[in-house]
Amino acid sequence: MSRRTPRISAAVLISGGGTNLQAFIDETVSGELDLDLKVVLSNKPDAAGLERARKANIKVECVEHRDFREREQFDAKLVSVLNKYAPDMIILAGFMRILSPVFIDRFAGKILNIHPSLLPKYPGLNTHQRAIEAGESWHGSTVHFATAELDGGPRIIQGRVPVLRDDTAESLALRVLKVEHQIYTQAAALLASGRLVYRDGQAWLDGVPMDEPLQYTPPGK
Ligand code: GRF
Repeated sequence: MSRRTPRISAAVLISGGGTNLQAFIDETVSGELDLDLKVVLSNKPDAAGLERARKANIKVECVEHRDFREREQFDAKLVSVLNKYAPDMIILAGFMRILSPVFIDRFAGKILNIHPSLLPKYPGLNTHQRAIEAGESWHGSTVHFATAELDGGPRIIQGRVPVLRDDTAESLALRVLKVEHQIYTQAAALLASGRLVYRDGQAWLDGVPMDEPLQYTPPGK
């Protein structure tokens, strides 16, 4: 009988290009990250990230939100599709739908999201433009547990980048994406290892409540 602990499995939910998904694919293929990427699910059939999944021989699913009148019906369909794969963890990687308790409660404490700002600053959309307009010197991205509160769940890790004088939303977004690819897989590795847990509405690392998220600054900054 095998003594190996079963690998932790994950479903990745996307809506777009999937560069964060690609970071997960690359690190699982190289063996840096021990995670079984069971399925990639998109709410858009033409999401470029689906092609990345196919190339990596990961199962793909598409559930179009337009086919559902109510958010809860869409979420119930997501749950029933994902249940087939019984993922241990859900990785929201640019999934542009707000999730209701129908979804959140099913996977409570096992859902990670990445948001392109240093939360609690700039929840919601257009974060890069808003950070530039506010004259911020630093911007970045946050991995957090997803809860029913939009971009509001307990923070796990943040990656910071400087805002440069001639930055546009696009140039800043590119720099932020690079740190996202570092911090997201780190957070998933912590959750997969059991060192990171969600309990009583808080993130705990190594048995200690995380009052502040871990910080990552790219080398040379
Ligand atoms: C990222 O900026 C992420 O923070 C946000 O959506 C974007 C997804 O990018 N939630 P990609 O599809 O992974 O390239």
